[in-house]
Amino acid sequence: MKPKIVIIDDDRSLRRVLEYNLQQEGYQVSVAASGEEGLALFAEEHPALVITDMKMPGMDGMQVLKAVKEQSPETLVIIITAFGTVDIAVEAMKAGAYDYITKPFNRDELRLTVAKALQFTGLTTENKRLRNQLADRTDFRTMIGSSPAMERVFEIVRKVADTEASVLITGESGTGKELVARSIHTMSGRKDAPFVAINCAAIPRDLLESELFGHVKGAFTGAVKDKTGKFQMAEGGTLFLDEVGELPLELQPKLLRALQERVVEPVGGTAASKLDVRVVAATNLDIEKAVADGVFREDLYYRLAVIPINLPPLRGRREDIPLLLRYFCGKHGSDKVTFDKTCLTALCAYGWPGNVRELENLVERLLIMRNTDTITPDDLPEKIRSGSSTASGAAAIINLPPDGYSLEQLEREVVVEALERNAWNQTAAARFLKIPRHTLIYRMEKYEIVSPEKL
Ligand SMILES: Nc1ncnc2c1ncn2[C@@H]1O[C@H](COP(=O)(O)OP(=O)(O)OP(=O)(O)O)[C@@H](O)[C@H]1O
Ligand SMILES: [Mg+2]
Repeated sequence: MKPKIVIIDDDRSLRRVLEYNLQQEGYQVSVAASGEEGLALFAEEHPALVITDMKMPGMDGMQVLKAVKEQSPETLVIIITAFGTVDIAVEAMKAGAYDYITKPFNRDELRLTVAKALQFTGLTTENKRLRNQLADRTDFRTMIGSSPAMERVFEIVRKVADTEASVLITGESGTGKELVARSIHTMSGRKDAPFVAINCAAIPRDLLESELFGHVKGAFTGAVKDKTGKFQMAEGGTLFLDEVGELPLELQPKLLRALQERVVEPVGGTAASKLDVRVVAATNLDIEKAVADGVFREDLYYRLAVIPINLPPLRGRREDIPLLLRYFCGKHGSDKVTFDKTCLTALCAYGWPGNVRELENLVERLLIMRNTDTITPDDLPEKIRSGSSTASGAAAIINLPPDGYSLEQLEREVVVEALERNAWNQTAAARFLKIPRHTLIYRMEKYEIVSPEKL
């Protein structure tokens, strides 16, 4: 039996989203529309986890949290706060909340936060099962792609997984950086030890240091007891430093030291302890530019990026789109659903600024909203459909972001894609682009495009 969860939120649609997604995960979910109702439900259900909105008329989330903790200290509480109210979240954490989610959140965040919280409880068998499930999600069966670009990514992952080398994963939002990080962990000898993730951009500056390295009792006001940092929690396993590009400059030397000397020093403590932790980091910032701008230390960059892995945006590997569509239909239990030809053309032509995450969200929405098992262009959102039917020529295949795009960058991407689709055969790629071969070679030199065999 999966654990029980009580959801408390005065916003009806949010309540539904939470309920739906967590039921999908198999949890036993009950919902309440107010703090008072929620506490009554809590007394009845004895849930393992309470998820409560912070701001509600009447009894608010903080009061719910305190009441729950008073009656049952081992019950976990996750609170939901509005974007920009981190201070409230911090207050709640101090009052015993296990974690917080900021609105707006996506499904993955929700599922993962909940799974992580419940992993933490004393439910050992449940624990193991969840861990297996998380592991399951991350081997290559769940990482889809047959484009040359993704094949290259898989190959690097296979080679580096079972080494100690630090890996830096770069790529736009939604390209699968976290998925790659988890794959590296599950394919390594560390797979039975913890995979611990920390988002360097989501934690307020003054908490980040203690979050990473821990603190000792009395280190600062509010440090009422010793706290274990994420580094220590990841002992024997993998620490995933997400959004590492946003790590404040003043914390960078300490991280560098931890990586170099494999020791961490809790805030306010003197004893540095030796650690065995493999670090995988990710960022969607242009970190080389951050180095050039002096906001990211060069020495730390080289430490983190012993093995760099760049995840290409989805628009640079369009042949993966049909595969992903099929995969996500299956994942959401609708194997028999198909996309008609015009629809597929439009989906392959669309720019996918949100990459794989955007595609998965769209598939989920289409599956819920559809009337038949064949998806047609009519089912698609306007911005995707319009690419397929209205314009002809370039506008039909290129979806430019609203804030503009560099023509040179675009040309470079087109050339790379032509080469990739033709297995880096220059003659074939030139024919594909309808230009002479020497023009292609000129462009390759101009944009410093090198065939992967030469790297
Ligand atoms: N190649 C893939 N095959 C299957 N699912 C994928 C693939 N790439 C990404 N996904 C799914 O897309 C979603 C987004 O991926 P992920 O969270 O790893 O992206 P990210 O690069 O970390 O994004 P962000 O920078 O926004 O944190 C996840 O649900 C993930 O499972
Ligand atoms: Mg991520």
